[in-house]
Amino acid sequence: MIHRVHFREIPSTNDYAKELSKSNSIVVVTADVQTQGRGRNKKNWEGEAFKNVYLSLAINHNSFPVFKFPSRYQALGSLAVYNTLLNFIPSENIKLKYPNDIYIKENKFKKVSGVLIEHSIQGKKAESTIIGIGINVKQEIFSKDIEDKATSILKVGLNIEIETLYKILIEEINKLINLEEDDIYQDWICKLSIIGKEIILISTGFKYKVKEINNDCSLMILNEQKELLRIDNGDSIVYEL
Ligand code: BTN
Repeated sequence: MIHRVHFREIPSTNDYAKELSKSNSIVVVTADVQTQGRGRNKKNWEGEAFKNVYLSLAINHNSFPVFKFPSRYQALGSLAVYNTLLNFIPSENIKLKYPNDIYIKENKFKKVSGVLIEHSIQGKKAESTIIGIGINVKQEIFSKDIEDKATSILKVGLNIEIETLYKILIEEINKLINLEEDDIYQDWICKLSIIGKEIILISTGFKYKVKEINNDCSLMILNEQKELLRIDNGDSIVYEL
């Protein structure tokens, strides 16, 4: 089983995991409280103390071979959360949203979890990958700007101990890390189920249709003039799940 280091309070589990990756081949950092939790695209990751899962998996590529396509670690992170939730929630009420969000059904689908991937590169070599996972577990009140989009496991009527979720999540990570990268990627594409869907790219406000998913997890999308465009996990999109 993967070694785990737990903190009562820490600025960000991703930052500490990055430090630990220098002396560990694979390690998990968890915390009861994050004071400077980060989300994608330089956003904060908000979360009340003692109410949520804050976990970072650090993989050192000197001792753990790196994926051919390092962006596929986002698939591993999202699937680890998906498989964990599947222990409590039926599959039709859990959805993956591109690039690496997990939604569950309250009255409508809302975000319960996000994954933040960070790579340390030295020259041309990937030194380590950090997969940061936040899951809203017992939080019931969210700030105004996300209250309509965010939910928690408690808000869908399930009172699950945070420690139980940590144990299952680490088990799921352990299973996935031993699978073939291509199998993880295919499973992610299948669960994502985005090919053929209409999306809106937030940066342009325009509508596109998803044509395919590239090997590096980026999306090929078509505009109304049938021109192809590539977007990746730095781009925010909205679409019907
Ligand atoms: C997102 O959806 O924007 C990704 C959110 C990732 C949050 C997790 S919580 C544990 C880890 N530590 C951080 O600072 N961020 C990630």
